[in-house]
Amino acid sequence: MTPKVSILDLQQKKTNQQPITMLTAYDYPGAVLVDEAGIDLTLVGDSLAMTVLGHPNTVSVTMDEMLHHSRAVARGTKRAFLVGDMPFMSYQVSRTEAIHNAGRFLKEANMDSVKLEGGREVEDAVRGIVAAGIPVMGHLGLTPQTATKLGGFKVQAKTAAAAKHLLEDALLLQDCGCFAIVLEAVPATVATYISQKLTIPTIGIGAGVGCDGQVLVFHDVLGLYDRFTPKFVKQYTNLREATLTAFRSYRDEVEQRTFPTEAHSFKITEEEWNQFLTSNK
Ligand code: KIV
Repeated sequence: MTPKVSILDLQQKKTNQQPITMLTAYDYPGAVLVDEAGIDLTLVGDSLAMTVLGHPNTVSVTMDEMLHHSRAVARGTKRAFLVGDMPFMSYQVSRTEAIHNAGRFLKEANMDSVKLEGGREVEDAVRGIVAAGIPVMGHLGLTPQTATKLGGFKVQAKTAAAAKHLLEDALLLQDCGCFAIVLEAVPATVATYISQKLTIPTIGIGAGVGCDGQVLVFHDVLGLYDRFTPKFVKQYTNLREATLTAFRSYRDEVEQRTFPTEAHSFKITEEEWNQFLTSNK
């Protein structure tokens, strides 16, 4: 059996200065591919709202939708450490509700941990979830659930004061017991500095090479998201074009009756066929 990646493995990678890898996945086939590629962590991100459900932002995705997709990802995962992203308003209302919703990711969807966005403003929720025995990944910098409050999808911590605020939040989340922190859209120098100050791993997205690991969104890596591509995304292939070519070929072949061929069809014996025709005379 393939051994699962553990929090200790991630911590070991930080100690040994070996980069940690994380990708998002939202369904069974995607999870199988991420797992087979040897990625350390699979995040069922609330980016699901945009990449899979077609919403304009991540705000509207619900607990039930996140759990539904998390269950499929868990079925396709043997090795990667699983992170379920807590949706907007599933952890802000009260500490009790936050613990209850975090617990659902583990009990109902087989996740290994949860991720939530924010620093000092979510301290109580993070401490509660950690105290309940649930591993928590933090998320600082550009926090998409509250992007409107931040003035849009903008790079964060660009002033000395904002960088200090970010460092304080990162240290606080570490003190709360988070096992890792995502740093999104943060200047590389700031992210590197924070990564060096923390004893827990940082996972960067648009935060430069100095983080302890990197994360990208499944559909961005594969060129499958058609709306926009942030500067920090590297598209490793263009499956959109390849998929369109395949679908158009299928459409043409069906319309021209060149698919299916005999190779894709089934046969009845001549004897059975004759019997059938006789019985229908
Ligand atoms: O939801 C998501 O995909 C994320 C990553 C971008 C870190 O939070």
